[in-house]
Amino acid sequence: MGFATDCIHAGQEPDPTTGAIVPPIYQTATYVQQGIGRHKGYEYARTQNPTREVLERNLAALEGGVDGCCFASGMAATNAVLTLVDAGKRVVVSDNVYGGTHRLFTKVLARYGLEFVFLDTSDAAAFEARSGDFALLWIETPTNPLMKVCDIAALAAAARRRQALLVVDNTFMSPFFQRPLTLGADIVVHSTTKFLNGHSDSVGGVAVVKDRALAEKLHYYQNAAGAILSPFDAWLVLRGVKTLALRMPRHEENGRRVAEFLRGHRKVGKTYWPGFPDHPGHDVQRRQAGGFGAMIAFDLGSLEAARTLLERVRLCSLGESLGGVETLISHPATMTHAGYTPAEREALGIRDGLVRISVGCEDAEDLIADLARALDAA
Ligand SMILES: Cc1ncc(COP(=O)(O)O)c(C=O)c1O
Repeated sequence: MGFATDCIHAGQEPDPTTGAIVPPIYQTATYVQQGIGRHKGYEYARTQNPTREVLERNLAALEGGVDGCCFASGMAATNAVLTLVDAGKRVVVSDNVYGGTHRLFTKVLARYGLEFVFLDTSDAAAFEARSGDFALLWIETPTNPLMKVCDIAALAAAARRRQALLVVDNTFMSPFFQRPLTLGADIVVHSTTKFLNGHSDSVGGVAVVKDRALAEKLHYYQNAAGAILSPFDAWLVLRGVKTLALRMPRHEENGRRVAEFLRGHRKVGKTYWPGFPDHPGHDVQRRQAGGFGAMIAFDLGSLEAARTLLERVRLCSLGESLGGVETLISHPATMTHAGYTPAEREALGIRDGLVRISVGCEDAEDLIADLARALDAA
């Protein structure tokens, strides 16, 4: 089946009891059993929930995996994946990942005996030479917020040579544009809060795998630690995913128009968007993904200019998060990446004047007019 068909149908059948075309929200804590050890495959709702299972099957199909595990947030999914690594092992991470990922790794999981090393993963050959041994490689591509592109197939080969796992946080692209498992990655993670749900009304996460043994381990942890996605949130994400193939081209078309506007504006310094032909990762992005997405970062040169813009926009909403139909604009240094030290941010190029925009599905000319008005004041 085609991707749009899978968005609407994969993993879901009409409800066997009533024929309801939409999978019901199984809002129950437990299931009545027929006798000791005799039940219909459902014992307790942390362990199994039919609504969650439908979403897990659906997302696994979209990413080309065998199974998925849904969690209460993207961070809960990230945490679950890291339990696959034993204490004492080394984990290598893209150097400008989402700030919450950096915080979880450095402030929480490092205390449990995992060693985290942050490296530039956008040059696969240099990475191979510098990275040493590792048990797991965690990347985002394009990276957050500087939109560096990483070559998934080359990094998958580097991970394979070390018998390590490659995990790709695919939140920015969604499986509509990029399917890392088909390029050699072992695990794909999403904050379903973002493009998958698409409507800024649910927080959730998923890890999709292509190997049954990994799926078993993640489901075991999902039940053992219990940070499950609620049935209502699973239902919301299922509903959001039905229009993923309609929303993503619109996000990207608007993204292109906003990126071109920003790049041509006299008050904007560098504009980071992999769709520009002179972006260093453009060719890799073109090869490994079906598009360039709607995430853009741009530099206004100073905190004051960024503040003025962010406080003057009216249609673009100042807020953390991304991937909704509404355009969201944010300030990485004080919001998503506040967990990095100022020196770490400076070294990465996440300056105080940097602004990130997640372009939504409104009319592009309205977004551009809003940005133009706010930039006049900046
Ligand atoms: C790329 C990326 N990964 C993971 C997360 C974490 O997801 P959540 O907020 O659902 O925990 C975020 C959140 O902004 C994100 O942008």
